[in-house]
Amino acid sequence: MSLDFNGKVAIVTGSGGGIGKGYALELAKRGAKIVVNDLGGAVDGTGGSVSAAEAVVQEIESNGGEAMANGANVSVQSEVKSMVEDAVKKWGKVDILINNAGILRDKSFGKMEWSDFEAVINVHLIGSALCAHSVFPVMKEQGYGRIIMTSSSSGLFGNFGQTNYAAAKMGVIGLMNTLKLEGAKYNVHTNSIAPTATTRMTEHLFPAEFGEKLDPKYIIPAVIYLASEKAPNGEILEAGGGVVANTYIMETMGKYFGTGDDFTAESVAESWEAISDTTDAKRPFQGGDVAMKHFETIQKSES
Ligand SMILES: NC(=O)c1ccc[n+]([C@@H]2O[C@H](COP(=O)([O-])OP(=O)(O)OC[C@H]3O[C@@H](n4cnc5c(N)ncnc54)[C@H](O)[C@@H]3O)[C@@H](O)[C@H]2O)c1
Repeated sequence: MSLDFNGKVAIVTGSGGGIGKGYALELAKRGAKIVVNDLGGAVDGTGGSVSAAEAVVQEIESNGGEAMANGANVSVQSEVKSMVEDAVKKWGKVDILINNAGILRDKSFGKMEWSDFEAVINVHLIGSALCAHSVFPVMKEQGYGRIIMTSSSSGLFGNFGQTNYAAAKMGVIGLMNTLKLEGAKYNVHTNSIAPTATTRMTEHLFPAEFGEKLDPKYIIPAVIYLASEKAPNGEILEAGGGVVANTYIMETMGKYFGTGDDFTAESVAESWEAISDTTDAKRPFQGGDVAMKHFETIQKSES
């Protein structure tokens, strides 16, 4: 099976460097036209220059591909709208959006300035929502679209010193969970990638012996699959060092207590083990499935 991107138009945010640059180069190599977006600032989001995006465009063009550089700040709606308009004006559509731009402002929660909390939410969560909000009508109209959110194990499972980043990275999962439903009938699929790679963002994080194994190039295959016509809808892939895994949010079957007076906080405390038993745990596809599961449990318990 080969995944074809000929004639597709893709916006890759934050693709002037790091992991995103690899997505842009690979999609271009496979025939897609690319908007290489990058604000070009430091890891903490300060500063900015379009030169990193321009250098990636040059690399794509010198390999025979088509691309345009864009310096929009993904957290500024007017700049995002212009970016999408420029792509549509030049190439008539947008098939793929990869929300990859990101910054870090790590500090333990008690010591974190509110401005650092907000700045990180603004780039990762608001930036991803703004880009999706601008491309969604275009994708809906053309009856095709692939949107990729960039999450993180820090958001999915937590990481000391990253409350801002973790909240944003779990926030994009919530955004995906509903976009997957609203886009389904227009063939607009939304998925997420949680990468692990050595970039300027993580250069002091991983032990040296893992450094080489975690080259950003090993994230590319999972993301190219999520950007393709074959993409699933609503999945969270973890990728790094040659491993690709799927991440599930599961719910245990739970315990039915009934609705009598003996259903108390104490009975919940005493039944902690039964409540948390993962045997037969389910993966709800959407919020409403949880209520249906509760009804099933009630019916079974009362019959
Ligand atoms: N490297 C990892 O192990 C890892 C782990 C989990 C998640 N991630 C996520 O992967 C994505 C890419 O990270 P990376 O490791 O390549 O880091 P990176 O710093 O090399 O790349 C991020 C890019 O986003 C750009 N950017 C930042 N703010 C922007 C804005 N407001 N508008 C437009 N562009 C902006 C930066 O200029 C930079 O080029 C990020 O979302 C990051 O949170 C990375």
